[in-house]
Amino acid sequence: MSQTLFERLGGTEGITKIASDLTDYHVAHKAIATRFANSDISKLKNAFATFIISGTGGPNVYKGMDVLSAHKGMNISAVEFMAVLDNVLAALKKNNIAQREQEEFLYILYSMRSQVVLV
Ligand code: HEM
Repeated sequence: MSQTLFERLGGTEGITKIASDLTDYHVAHKAIATRFANSDISKLKNAFATFIISGTGGPNVYKGMDVLSAHKGMNISAVEFMAVLDNVLAALKKNNIAQREQEEFLYILYSMRSQVVLV
């Protein structure tokens, strides 16, 4: 039996680090930083971590909104979506996640594009 993506991303501990780095990258990225100007960063780190844990086959710990509801009315552009994917790739690489897992994870996020961009 092959391991879940959750396990291959380092389980709760590994994903918590990835989510933390990802949030730091978002806050530092010129194209999207203003989107998070009023965010509670530790809450956001927890939301991203629990979202990834639950979505990759780990325990069902995510208590936030579904992706469409979370982004509805924000008028998010394709450029902003790309910036988020760039940050995801950077966070995965920083945490030494292998290419196969990078691909799987990016594909899952890419498939959510229609629930995020211009919704
Ligand atoms: C596939 C891509 C994306 C996924 C999976 C995703 C996921 C999430 C999740 C899980 C939350 C937390 C919702 C909650 O706490 O209830 C969130 C919030 C948010 N997302 Fe995204 N997101 C994506 C793309 C984007 C993009 C491209 C932007 C624009 C730059 C963006 C901006 C935001 C903002 C501003 C919030 C609210 C922050 C806050 O509550 O402080 N997201 N997103």
